Amino acid sequence: MVEDKQRPMTATTAPAPGANSAPQTERPAPSPTAKKLSQKTLKAKETRWDKRAAWFMAFVTAVIVVGLWVLSAYVWDKPPHGRGPQGDTPVGYALGVLTLVLYGVVAAYSMRHRKRVQKRAMTRTWMEVHLAFGLVAGLAAVLHSGPRLLSAAPLHGAFLVAWLLLIGTGFLGKIISVVVPRRLTRIEDEALLAEDVTEKQVAMRKEIEELLQANPEPAFVAYANVAAPKAIKNPQNYGKRRMRRHDVIDEVWEKTNGSTAVPADKHDTARRIVTCLVEERFLEQMQGYHWLLRSWVPIHVALTTLCFPWLIVHVVTVFLL
Ligand code: HEM
Ligand code: HEM
Repeated sequence: MVEDKQRPMTATTAPAPGANSAPQTERPAPSPTAKKLSQKTLKAKETRWDKRAAWFMAFVTAVIVVGLWVLSAYVWDKPPHGRGPQGDTPVGYALGVLTLVLYGVVAAYSMRHRKRVQKRAMTRTWMEVHLAFGLVAGLAAVLHSGPRLLSAAPLHGAFLVAWLLLIGTGFLGKIISVVVPRRLTRIEDEALLAEDVTEKQVAMRKEIEELLQANPEPAFVAYANVAAPKAIKNPQNYGKRRMRRHDVIDEVWEKTNGSTAVPADKHDTARRIVTCLVEERFLEQMQGYHWLLRSWVPIHVALTTLCFPWLIVHVVTVFLL
């Protein structure tokens, strides 16, 4: 990958062997790599337009939703001749049906995601459609209800709450999925996968246990089990130094007076244990971030599942009861 990126640069900046003697009359044919790159760039541009189109369409839909509600509130259903915006006015029905349609569009993302079919549209584009139209679905539902939450019949009010929680968890999840990977790369240059973190944690713990078994002296054990762990802080507390593990280890070593706390012949082993303990603490934090990355998805999906039958119940009850 890195090589691919660098090759065209070399072709344009470094003279080819013998370039001084033979004047260049023709431009060299672009290498196949360059072709690949330009195609890639074009595709990336195309994707950006797809994204913008999704957000633009969603914005237009949102403007229509708000426009209809304003007309209902201030013109068509304005008191005293009307009852104000409600779920059962023509605008109320239109917004209710639109919310239903948007539910279908937004939930379609999960079907495509599961099937991993990327022929008709790219998953990234679908994701953008999901985010943009998901937010509009929240707005449409609120305005469909009046807005009416506290004064609504409990069954309908609770449905609106569930709906807003669905949108809210999605929104929160999006923020988490942007912020957390950045935090992960601030602990480790290359963000590790959750499985790799677990594997490293097991390896660190094993090494610590082995070192403790091989060095059972009370001073060493107390240092490794109590003094050193107490002195190790979470990665963010070390500022930029957290990426330079040696600095962190030195700080812990000095803070715990390592050179006096353990006998001289155990210094190297004690420093190794500090290294493992620091790494263990940092891995723990990474594992926490990975947990955060995954934690919201089941709630979001459960709310999606819950809202489907509830939508049917809502429509049946408003018409039949
Ligand atoms: C996510 C979608 C929806 C949500 C969150 C939602 C929520 C609500 C809420 C909170 C109310 C106010 C109830 C009250 O004042 O007691 C309401 C009223 C109403 N909704 Fe929906 N609704 C949705 C979709 C729909 C759909 C698809 C339809 C049917 C086409 C519909 C038809 C109605 C009707 C007719 C009312 C007026 C009921 C009345 O005033 O007694 N809603 N809706
Ligand atoms: C009508 C509203 C919504 C419904 C029915 C819905 C449904 C779903 C479902 C079923 C999934 C799971 C996809 C899968 O992994 O198979 C999902 C994923 C996701 N949703 Fe929503 N969602 C809605 C609104 C939103 C909103 C408003 C946002 C953010 C602004 C959002 C953000 C996300 C994100 C980021 C994922 C990706 C999870 C992942 O695969 O890592 N959703 N949504």
